[in-house]
Amino acid sequence: ATPVSYDYVIVGAGTSGLVIANRLSELSNVTVAVIEAGDSVYNNVNVSSTTGYGLAFGTEIDWAYQTTNQSFGGDVVQTMRAGKAIGGTSTINGMAYTRAEDIQIDAWEALGNAGWSWEVLFPYYKKSQQLQVPTEAQAAAGVTYDAADNGFNGPLKVGWNPALNVGDVHTVLNETYAALGVQWNEDVNSGRMVGYNRYPSHIDVALNVREDAGRAYYYPIANRTNLHLYPNTLAHRMTWDTTAQIPTANGVVVQAVNSTTPYTISANKEVILSAGALASPLLLELSGVGNPAILSKYNISTVVDLPTVGENLQDQTNTGLAIDTADNTSYSGTSDYVAYPTAADIFGSEITNISATVLAALPSYAATVAAASGNVTKASDLLSFFKIQHELIFSTTHPVPIAEVLLTPSGTAVDCEYWALLPFARGNIHITSATPGVPAAINPNYYMLDWDVTGQIQVAKFIREIFATAPFAGLLGTETKPGFDVVPQNATTAQWQAWNNGVYRSNFHPVATAAMMPKEVGGVVDTSLKVYGTANVRVIDASVLPFQVCGHLVSTLYAVAERAADLIKSEM
Ligand code: FDA
Repeated sequence: ATPVSYDYVIVGAGTSGLVIANRLSELSNVTVAVIEAGDSVYNNVNVSSTTGYGLAFGTEIDWAYQTTNQSFGGDVVQTMRAGKAIGGTSTINGMAYTRAEDIQIDAWEALGNAGWSWEVLFPYYKKSQQLQVPTEAQAAAGVTYDAADNGFNGPLKVGWNPALNVGDVHTVLNETYAALGVQWNEDVNSGRMVGYNRYPSHIDVALNVREDAGRAYYYPIANRTNLHLYPNTLAHRMTWDTTAQIPTANGVVVQAVNSTTPYTISANKEVILSAGALASPLLLELSGVGNPAILSKYNISTVVDLPTVGENLQDQTNTGLAIDTADNTSYSGTSDYVAYPTAADIFGSEITNISATVLAALPSYAATVAAASGNVTKASDLLSFFKIQHELIFSTTHPVPIAEVLLTPSGTAVDCEYWALLPFARGNIHITSATPGVPAAINPNYYMLDWDVTGQIQVAKFIREIFATAPFAGLLGTETKPGFDVVPQNATTAQWQAWNNGVYRSNFHPVATAAMMPKEVGGVVDTSLKVYGTANVRVIDASVLPFQVCGHLVSTLYAVAERAADLIKSEM
């Protein structure tokens, strides 16, 4: 192939990468290339369907990354799904649009990331968004929003599914949650997430198709002559300008899927890695940026000694409960009945004890997590992160939510997916070969720490309370998952854990594998998302979030990428 060169070369036409591609190519004097392993899914009904969650799993557009054996989590291997397509993981995800709690974005700044706060990010959430208001029937069935918290002019269409269940279940749930102390939240995207609500989705309501990153950020501007997207092309590694004093990337080695010959796409200004939290750190390592002890195992010479590349991996776990409806009542439509309770909501009178127990355990958690990384992450740093996280969870004045509880009445049952939002466990991801595309070692260390187990189990107990509380209880019959024969009402933690270990899955929210933090505490990128020790390499995707957030990730990733694009432009 002919050698080609661009000002900015972006790896990954996913959720974040397409925001950068769109915003940089707004400048007609700037040239941009985007390299994407997958293909267009514009006409793929597994993607466009607004009621087809899961249809794309296991197909050619699902990377289906495998974890290492989860020794704390039932000795099983978990699948971590991610999209391989123009649009990335936004083409296969659950379409939920929820942001974060304001104070947890402020915590990024508290970590040492000056300029990253809720106040700064909030306008970028709105900049990306184009809210489509609910129908009258949806409003009557509990859909509310606050106009001041939403954007109406951005590229990303957000709204409520035309198939939304508009029956009276909402009223029943609203009363039930209120009885449990979980109040109606008018707009979950205001920075205050706690409560019960019916959240919006990434959807083009008029066309009734999924609004993925391709539809929002790429296809409308795909004909810009200064923007070139390379589909079906795997990025191998960056190339370096050997004459530069500070390591300076000058291209990306790529290979088209139908070819055996790699070639280089040159970058005159910057390389931006947006390949996702389970791919960008690997591209750094394959390019010689990482832990020399790992790189040397595969004969990769160290360009930048940055041992925390691939560390700090944080994910959540997802489990499901189910219960029959009374008298086989049948439900139809999509649901999106979501509750975000606080730790006090789910632990009740135990909250003070639990808070103190977890606080006392933080030094041992930090030591355990540090040891699991071979002390590449430092216990003293982790302890300071964990104290911030503890305060977010257990604050008596402004706690963040601690769980997402998603109820889906359908057919003659109510399914309930749930996940504890803030486990303390951290793991890592590293290459296992110098050959690009070879599966990595991915270890999220699910359930490594007591709190991670207790939290997930306590949410399940809370859901049993929801099932048993009027008026919702009146609609329900017999619990089928797990069922009281499998996990009795007064089950011990061990009984709950034994069941949970056999049924849980990844919640598909991996973050922090190239965390934005000061270098001294193990950061990989600085506040302009530039990789430490390099002149011109940025990571812009879920890898840079230093902490897990309580909302689903995409809205926050769009906001981060929107801001990052402005930062890049300000440096031009
Ligand atoms: P993203 O994965 O979008 O993009 C990375 C791109 O890089 C991909 O297109 C990939 O093919 C490409 N790539 C990787 N390696 C490459 C290489 N070497 N060369 C070339 N290209 C390469 N969030 C949410 O907000 N609401 C929700 O309902 C859900 N639900 C959900 C369900 C499921 C099943 C999953 C898997 C995830 C979710 N999420 C979610 C999470 C959310 O979708 C996810 O965090 C983001 O889309 C990730 O965006 P990124 O930009 O980080 O990477």
